[in-house]
Amino acid sequence: AITSPGSAKRPLPSTRRAEKGRSMKPIAEILGKTSLDRGDLIRVLEADEGECGPLLARAAVVKRSGVGGRVYLRGLIEYSNICSKDCLYCGIRSGNAAASRYEMTEEETLAAARLALERRFGSIVIQAGERDDAQFVARMERILRRIRALGGGALHVTLSLGEQSPDTYRRWLDAGAHRYLLRIEASSPDLYRKLHPEDARHSQASRLEALGALREAGYQVGTGVMIGAPFQTAADLADDLLFFRDLDVDMIGMGPYIEHPDTPLYTHALELLPPRKRLELSLRMVALLRVMMPDINIAATTAMQAIDPEGRERAIRAGANVVMPNLTPARYRHDYLLYENKPCLDQEPEESVELLEARIRESGGSIAYGEWGDSGRFLARKS
Ligand code: 5AD
Repeated sequence: AITSPGSAKRPLPSTRRAEKGRSMKPIAEILGKTSLDRGDLIRVLEADEGECGPLLARAAVVKRSGVGGRVYLRGLIEYSNICSKDCLYCGIRSGNAAASRYEMTEEETLAAARLALERRFGSIVIQAGERDDAQFVARMERILRRIRALGGGALHVTLSLGEQSPDTYRRWLDAGAHRYLLRIEASSPDLYRKLHPEDARHSQASRLEALGALREAGYQVGTGVMIGAPFQTAADLADDLLFFRDLDVDMIGMGPYIEHPDTPLYTHALELLPPRKRLELSLRMVALLRVMMPDINIAATTAMQAIDPEGRERAIRAGANVVMPNLTPARYRHDYLLYENKPCLDQEPEESVELLEARIRESGGSIAYGEWGDSGRFLARKS
């Protein structure tokens, strides 16, 4: 056996300390295989940091041939923190009375989209807490039509607005959305139940159905997970990677779990890996996924930057090819707090973008301005 019996079952902190000094297959040998299996993935996820050079090298090669060397920008608009869900990890859960709620106006949203156009981002993401009332659905539809009119179709739009009916997904697609990001959060049904309230509004089965409906409707479909969450094991993360591959996703956004004091899961904060390790594990997940799925879009996520100011640039080096500069007006940013220490809360959109551009240039990447950056996997599947 590659690992000791039961090691894959233990929560992450102890798995990372275990297995020192045993004879195990070198990482380079595993990466030489045409297809990585569950055992391979667990072995790499549990490896010492010093062993992982070959993984990063391999991910860089696969990335270059799979998606090229350029980084695509999506301007992130955190449209509203009003949420009907009560996820146990999330700072904007409905049960958090300490969060002060906002919704951007249509004009503010259009202004943010205009900023993305001026900056030649090619693409925006509209993200918000989950709501499925008729008023919200109609308002979003109107906003999407106005955004399409604004740029004459120059902006591609990703939505990240949670579980909706197939009809709503179709309406938003018809109104101008192209891609949809709906994280599965945890592919293990058991772990999913530990991270969410046990009721009909928080069922993993519905989320899987929603992912199917998005594909059916014609979206480029993205999903993702949190990494280093309470109760999560290396085997869970290996299964997440296999889940992404089996679902044949077009895009992935995943990043470290970060505790939030006003959430039920905060009581588990002391059991977590240290933040630096959670980031390292997230980068390793990105690199493994890039090796497994060469032509999908992988985001360098904000939670990575929350742990390390250079987190997103490190993700780009590990295999990510998408960055989402925040275009949310500064006065709302303090209220879109999914987790602690969210970066750039006091910056106006323009400043964040300038910093980011400089950082990407410094880390040897180049930005693909004015391009949609649609998922290569999606385009290949269509043709
Ligand atoms: N830590 C990290 N990511 C979080 N999200 C929500 N709460 C947290 C947290 N505490 C992520 C979820 C969700 C996305 C919008 O933000 O994965 O899908």
